[in-house]
Amino acid sequence: MPIRIHSHGKLLQKWLRYPRCDILEYDTQHQELLERMNAINEMLAKGGDDQTILLLLARLTVHFAQHHQDEEQRMLASHYGRFSSHAEDHHQMQTDLLPGLVDAIRRGEPGVNFDPLIRWQASHITHFDKPMARYLLSRE
Ligand SMILES: [Fe+2]
Ligand SMILES: [Fe+2]
Repeated sequence: MPIRIHSHGKLLQKWLRYPRCDILEYDTQHQELLERMNAINEMLAKGGDDQTILLLLARLTVHFAQHHQDEEQRMLASHYGRFSSHAEDHHQMQTDLLPGLVDAIRRGEPGVNFDPLIRWQASHITHFDKPMARYLLSRE
């Protein structure tokens, strides 16, 4: 559930815990990604050092790519029927939403934050990762 926090007079949503999909490895990775995004949001709200923020963004991009690659390899290996739409949702986030946010931060756009990506991840877990996990767990 999200809680609401005030930051520089602006209301941000802060997710403390994502819905679980019940594959421990993925729940742990989702939680780590969330903590990384919350940390970037905090640095943006505080006006943190640009180089540090860019480094955190580069690491986050790598961690998302690795996480998605893990899921996609496992879906393919298990012949999951909804692989294409699931992988397409990963792809759109990685080629559109995430680079768009990174560019906006690089340009120093005022008020930019990671809330859209944090919300994307919550929705993706509910609509894609949970059904995937149910399928994978039913085959083990
Ligand atoms: Fe996924
Ligand atoms: Fe995931």
